[in-house]
Amino acid sequence: MKINGNPMRTLWLRPDGWSVEIIDQTRLPHALETVVLKTADDAAYAIQAMLVRGAPLIGVTAAYGVALAMRKNASDASLEEAIANLAAQRPTAVNLRWALEEMRKALGPLSAEDRVPAAYRHAGRIAEDDVEMCRMIGANGVPLIRELAHRKQGAPVNILTHCNAGWLACIDWGTATSPIYQAHDAGIPVHVFVDETRPRNQGASLTAFELGQHGVPHTLICDNAGGHYMQHGKVDLVITGTDRVAPNGDVANKIGTYLKALAAYDNHVPFFVAFPSSTIDWTISDGTEIPIEERDAREVLSVQGRDPAGRIVQMSIAPPGTPAGNPAFDVTPARLITGLITERGMCRATREGLLSIYPEREIISV
Ligand code: MRU
Repeated sequence: MKINGNPMRTLWLRPDGWSVEIIDQTRLPHALETVVLKTADDAAYAIQAMLVRGAPLIGVTAAYGVALAMRKNASDASLEEAIANLAAQRPTAVNLRWALEEMRKALGPLSAEDRVPAAYRHAGRIAEDDVEMCRMIGANGVPLIRELAHRKQGAPVNILTHCNAGWLACIDWGTATSPIYQAHDAGIPVHVFVDETRPRNQGASLTAFELGQHGVPHTLICDNAGGHYMQHGKVDLVITGTDRVAPNGDVANKIGTYLKALAAYDNHVPFFVAFPSSTIDWTISDGTEIPIEERDAREVLSVQGRDPAGRIVQMSIAPPGTPAGNPAFDVTPARLITGLITERGMCRATREGLLSIYPEREIISV
């Protein structure tokens, strides 16, 4: 996708062929700054401090983190240490563990001297596969939006999304946003309600930013407004991303997604979840097994913004010493989800639905 008209991705290999450059997402939308990762610890920090965030992107960053670790020391012990450290940074998004497992499978059998080029090759493949899967999620989701536009006789289709499941959460295209971008590019009129998404405001700072850069009409709303707009017939469709999908169709996503699903259900608004197959955790049974990350209370007790002098500042919003809870994700039960959109197509949010598009999982998931 583009920033200021220039094609950009969230992460890329630098011309030196080994160091990795990322957009520092903690500075958006106020400043477009990049950071260079030179060690596995740099990659781990970028994931933990959310310079990169979003399930697919943290998976790719972790894969490159392994490559950086191999460059320094390609022993078995170094491989295992890097994987363990990177995996520990964020617990909910399964793409992180998935990408690290892919790296282990690819590198484990190799000699130490073959590991460095192979690590970069495999990390690059994981990144390119993510781009292609996100592109296909868009292609598979467009008919849904086209159908709604047809029913609305050309009036804009109003789509609500929560958090940022755009290209900034991936390498390119995004998950929830990919059908939106592709519908917009195909001339289908769309308008997006962007939930601000407290506490870190990924909707306000990232989704609004990237939709604006692409010229997609959108309106930023506070997290509590979605139910009201649904009640008043202003929302035709909800599409969110997810950080982990259970085989029964339950999904974990940014805190607050569950409440949007309840409001959508009560108001008969279709609620879809978009994700690549790397986000499905076939090792669990249902959403109750998904670990929910508890983050620093300071994220709730403050907000980040730009002051009149243009400085990016953090401001307290509660009395000093106020206790705060900060679960970063919640689980939306499958029964509230109208359908799932993946790179293989759309399906119902059930085990049978998922197995109908991932039939190769039948044997190991019973
Ligand atoms: O905590 P984050 O910003 O990494 O969480 C990301 C999300 O929850 C997004 O909404 C997204 O849907 C999942 S990744 C495409």
